Amino acid sequence: MLIYQGSPVREQFDIADDKVYLRAANICPCANSVAAAIDDFVALWRREGDACWGLAENAFEEGKALFAKLIDADAGEIATIENTSMGLSIAASLIAPQPGSNVVVDELTHQSNVYPWLLRPEVEVRYAHAESGRVALSEFEALIDDNTAAVDVCHVTMGHGFRHDLAGLAELAHEHAAYLVVDAAQSAGVVPIDVAAAGVDFLSCPTFKWLYGPLGAGFLFVRKDLLKLGPPPLVGWMSARRPAGFDIHSMELHDDARRLQRGVHNGAGLVAALAGLRIVDELGPERIWEHTRVLGRQLMVGLEELGLAVLTPKNDNERAGIVTVSVKEAADFNGALTKLGILAGQYLPGQIRMDVALFHNEEDIERTLATFSKVAASRGTA
Ligand SMILES: Cc1ncc(COP(=O)(O)O)c(C=O)c1O
Repeated sequence: MLIYQGSPVREQFDIADDKVYLRAANICPCANSVAAAIDDFVALWRREGDACWGLAENAFEEGKALFAKLIDADAGEIATIENTSMGLSIAASLIAPQPGSNVVVDELTHQSNVYPWLLRPEVEVRYAHAESGRVALSEFEALIDDNTAAVDVCHVTMGHGFRHDLAGLAELAHEHAAYLVVDAAQSAGVVPIDVAAAGVDFLSCPTFKWLYGPLGAGFLFVRKDLLKLGPPPLVGWMSARRPAGFDIHSMELHDDARRLQRGVHNGAGLVAALAGLRIVDELGPERIWEHTRVLGRQLMVGLEELGLAVLTPKNDNERAGIVTVSVKEAADFNGALTKLGILAGQYLPGQIRMDVALFHNEEDIERTLATFSKVAASRGTA
């Protein structure tokens, strides 16, 4: 059992009382401590107006420090961003691929990992082939060449929940002087990440999934020596070393990732993000992953025993919190699950996704499997 602040972490999530909420990879549920942090911010703002800035500024700095710790980076390599897509776009602009170059993505990726490159018609986008819910390193190897500017992946893919081997990809990319760009939306907070050891160059992540924070806040990691790869694509007064200097004639930018900051960020959002990060930090990514790994295995084995085809790779190194199964008439099937208190997700055709998280327990998995069995039996499908 995972303990937070002396009590089972599950007690932080009211939603776990009567439902099995399996949609954390879509939007995490709000923990009591996160709600309390937002309430405190709003109360101070109501009572004292701009005194709320102190809370926001602290959350801003502490949040970056905790995220840096989570991925084994330096706080000076982290900028806050509005969303993952913004971070990926900033990375693409810093890399600024030359005409005639190529970028390698894969067939299981998210749109936001492709659009910043498709925006550049002079750059070829190559898609590494996926087979049985995974993309082999050899598929990337076959596409990366000396004209490759970047390899861009979702660390964990949002459909099948396939976890890429970041160190293997970084090695392939770096052999050809290309950069590795990572979307950690479905991995940070579920599996341990060490950007330095793996050789990741850029990593973008939102708070509203496995970091238990709010919508519309996130973090961008840029490896220290790449911060000045090009001019920041977006700047503002908070990119400057002395934001309160009000210098309108010259611009002296921060040397660290603050140069990528633009202006004031979402105060209530970052206060909530910090509260969510504190949960992940206290539990620690190793313990969270062990908890998730065991429950995820229980779910996958049980689904297979029911005769369902699990699409998520079986190997623990190739998965994280997402477990996806193939189901006929998936939208209707999922609707039936929802009515019985099993809140799974239906996003891609023919698939139902279940996101196993730190607030789940064995009984949740048993209840999910029993409900799957009941719905399958009532529909005559499996
Ligand atoms: C892998 C992945 N990347 C990116 C996103 C979008 O993130 P954002 O809205 O923060 O840009 C999502 C889901 O919303 C996702 O699952």
